[in-house]
Amino acid sequence: MRSSALWRLKPYLRPHYGRLVLMTVVAGAGLGAATLVPLVVKALIDGPVARGERSGIWLLALAALGLGLFESVAAFLRRYTSGNLAIGLETSLRSDLYAHLQRQPVAFHDGWQSGQLLSRALTDVKVIRRFFGFGLVFLVVNLFTFAVVLVLMVRLEPLLAGITALSAVPLLALSRRFEREYLAVSRQVQDRHGDLATLVEESALGIRVIKAFGRRRLMGRRFGDQARLLYESSIRQVRLRARFWALIDMIPNLTMAAVLLFGGLAVGRGALSLGGLVAFVALLVLLVWPIESLGEILAMAEEATSAAERVFEVLDTEPGIRDRPGAVVLAEARGRIRFEGVGFSYGSGAPVLRGIDLDLAPGETLALVGMTGAGKTTLASLVPRLQDVSEGRVTLDGHDVRDLTLASLRSHVGMAFEDPILFSASVRENLLLGAPHAGDDDIEAALATAQAGFVHRLPWGLHTRVGEQGLSLSGGQRQRLALARALVTRPRVLVLDDPLSALDVHTEALVERGLRRELEGITTLLVVHRPSTLALADRVAFLQDGRIAAVGTHSELLERVPAYRDVLSREVEELAS
Ligand SMILES: Nc1ncnc2c1ncn2[C@@H]1O[C@H](COP(=O)(O)OP(=O)(O)OP(=O)(O)O)[C@@H](O)[C@H]1O
Ligand SMILES: [Mg+2]
Repeated sequence: MRSSALWRLKPYLRPHYGRLVLMTVVAGAGLGAATLVPLVVKALIDGPVARGERSGIWLLALAALGLGLFESVAAFLRRYTSGNLAIGLETSLRSDLYAHLQRQPVAFHDGWQSGQLLSRALTDVKVIRRFFGFGLVFLVVNLFTFAVVLVLMVRLEPLLAGITALSAVPLLALSRRFEREYLAVSRQVQDRHGDLATLVEESALGIRVIKAFGRRRLMGRRFGDQARLLYESSIRQVRLRARFWALIDMIPNLTMAAVLLFGGLAVGRGALSLGGLVAFVALLVLLVWPIESLGEILAMAEEATSAAERVFEVLDTEPGIRDRPGAVVLAEARGRIRFEGVGFSYGSGAPVLRGIDLDLAPGETLALVGMTGAGKTTLASLVPRLQDVSEGRVTLDGHDVRDLTLASLRSHVGMAFEDPILFSASVRENLLLGAPHAGDDDIEAALATAQAGFVHRLPWGLHTRVGEQGLSLSGGQRQRLALARALVTRPRVLVLDDPLSALDVHTEALVERGLRRELEGITTLLVVHRPSTLALADRVAFLQDGRIAAVGTHSELLERVPAYRDVLSREVEELAS
């Protein structure tokens, strides 16, 4: 489990294999230059210095300068390549994650907190980048350093080399323990990060409600609590790291003491030259940084592992709603919609819809009426496959909608929802969301039908930015834009979920007049709360407790079904109050 999450990033590393090789070669060359310096020192002390030869001193000093220059060029190349690799990997991983989120059905987002997704797409991906840009290279370079330095040491003085090699034992033991504990803590830190992001996001979106209900303090406290949790686990993380570092720091120091002791004795015995001892100590100094940085690198690796686990948790959820193998493209649609024995439940909950049979002829407008919570939105969402039926089937022109490609199904079905969402983009871009190639005439016609001419009076007309980063529009203005957006696509089937609820009666009447003309020839499923909107409908289906209780014209139902009368009169009363 532990290494597997990082291992699974291999496909993202594959395009960078060349860079990885270059990086290792350059790092190795730089390392080679660095390790040669102590040998130059030895040659200098034992040779020209001992003999008092000036020209030799010059030559060796120049060699040391050359090695230093070479090392810095190598360091530049290594950093540049590793940066490129890491940023490339981060970008492609993040794009995949985003594309994956886009493929997920609505139900996926019901189950995931948006802050968790946000922190996975931003923070976790960054943690992974850090490991590949820095940790991985140094892990390789450090192992390399160990090997090279140890070989040189053995050639200089086998006993001292043996002492140095022994220091690897406590190092490995400590690292194993650290890894285990650190992985758990860093996972906790990252999860709490996501929880905090969710809270910040909700507070930003719900700022009006928070203020209106005087809930600022409460939210502040809740945020404080959550932030404290993150603080506590971060501190635990830091403490663990500090303890490990302190222990690890002792290892080169103890080794140095032992080397000085035994090395000094060896020089006394004449078994080692003075230059040899200096060179040995210089080689040992080369090992200090690799040992000390091991803590940081292991910490990075553990953080990257748990970050990769978190990213793969998202990437591993198969989209529940997607094209079936062999799904067909429906190029032209007539627009006949049938519900055949449709049942639906959210997850494992109680059924929300049961035994729904409905038949919408091409061009017909069917209104859905029912108490709040009766299942109208749910029923409407089955047509464009925002949800899939649990039982029975929904067909378009006789094709089960699950047998059509999502792209072709959705190109025939336009939608406007109760709660219209506009994106941070210009009015025009928002309108063209479903029909990027629509012309100005289509836009104007849709705006006229939806009574959304107000956009021309915005400061920059159709180019005014709206949505979160732009001009705020009123609820009714947003609804009319969302309606226009659905109409621009010129769909064969239109699903309108109470799209006029925020409009005043006068504007509603104007929109309805436009819509009546527009809806001729478009099969429409219209969720309705107000009796006035019912004028648009050819027939009405009355939904009660997830079943179709009655279907007929508005006046037939008024006459035959007392419950229908009840629901509508309640709406009228609410309207009046
Ligand atoms: N995402 C969801 N997950 C679980 N249950 C849900 C979900 N959405 C709706 N429900 C439940 O399904 C039932 C039907 O909801 P639905 O939104 O379809 O009602 P509605 O008729 O559109 O109501 P309204 O008139 O208030 O818009 C409700 O009991 C609701 O609690
Ligand atoms: Mg609804």
